[in-house]
Amino acid sequence: MAEYFILNTGARIPSVGLGTSQAEPGVVEQAIYAAVKAGYRHIDCAPAYHNEKEIGLALKKIFEDGVVKREELFITSKLWCGNQAPEDVPEGIDATLKDLQLDYLDLFLIHSPVRSKKGATPNPENFLPLDIPATWGAMEKLYNSGKARAIGVSNFSCKKMEDLLAIAHVLPAVNQVESHPIWQQMKLRELCQSKGVHLSAYSPLGKARSPGFEGPTVLRNPIVVSIAEKLEKTPAQVALRWGLQMGQSVLPKSTNEARMKENLNIFYWSIPDDLMAQFSEIQQVKMLRAEFVVHPQGIYKSVEDFWDGEI
Ligand code: A2P
Repeated sequence: MAEYFILNTGARIPSVGLGTSQAEPGVVEQAIYAAVKAGYRHIDCAPAYHNEKEIGLALKKIFEDGVVKREELFITSKLWCGNQAPEDVPEGIDATLKDLQLDYLDLFLIHSPVRSKKGATPNPENFLPLDIPATWGAMEKLYNSGKARAIGVSNFSCKKMEDLLAIAHVLPAVNQVESHPIWQQMKLRELCQSKGVHLSAYSPLGKARSPGFEGPTVLRNPIVVSIAEKLEKTPAQVALRWGLQMGQSVLPKSTNEARMKENLNIFYWSIPDDLMAQFSEIQQVKMLRAEFVVHPQGIYKSVEDFWDGEI
């Protein structure tokens, strides 16, 4: 298994990236520095995580100390939902570049099929109808300008992907979605792979979940645990390795150095075919359902609406 996947732009996306959602300011700066020193070459960021300034400080120090050069890192960030109007998209990437102290991103994603009024709190009363063709047109301009070396989307269902593919001049390089052994995304992965769109997995350990959600856990799933025991790996390593073998990059979040290293140690061994087959027996449950986008008078009347029934 290669340490990279190739995007439809020809660029290489490192197969393991560090997730930074809920990586608290005050901890994240040191964590990023430690991660890059440990071998991470891909950092997944977003202004919605409220920590890009600290990540920018870490990156500056990493380059100043000569740990790696800018071109050795793959940095992803995302368009904030209040910046989806086409005229506001350039400001969205510029704010992120300023905070991250970079002059380009390797990948810039539409964070979510949710658009809110500019500057307003992103709750359903402030949502506006989507205009993905217009937003995507502005994303294509960023790609053509070189500020975003690849562009893509996040949290797009099969239906939204198909709608986007029908109008795109620049094909999306990536769809970043929840994916782990308990929410495997078989249909979406198949669609994306057939169209040359790379699937990237956030929350690949299945730890992020809707508030109050009390469903099963990936790291205690009996199939994951038994495969881990057979291979003498941890359940986290098995969950991540399953993702790589399915052809997706994985973005585990950790600010703990030992766990970061554990999550990177998923190369040079593999899950044999007979054990891979067992994953298909795992009952599927979506853990991040995005109830916060739902409102009776809003754009999305139910979570089924938001995910186009793919839930
Ligand atoms: P921590 O930052 O303390 O390591 P996900 O990416 O699926 O959302 O999972 C992230 C969560 O899982 C974080 O709470 C993180 O905590 C924890 N985590 C990260 N790596 C591991 C691991 N190898 N084993 C157990 N928990 C982990």
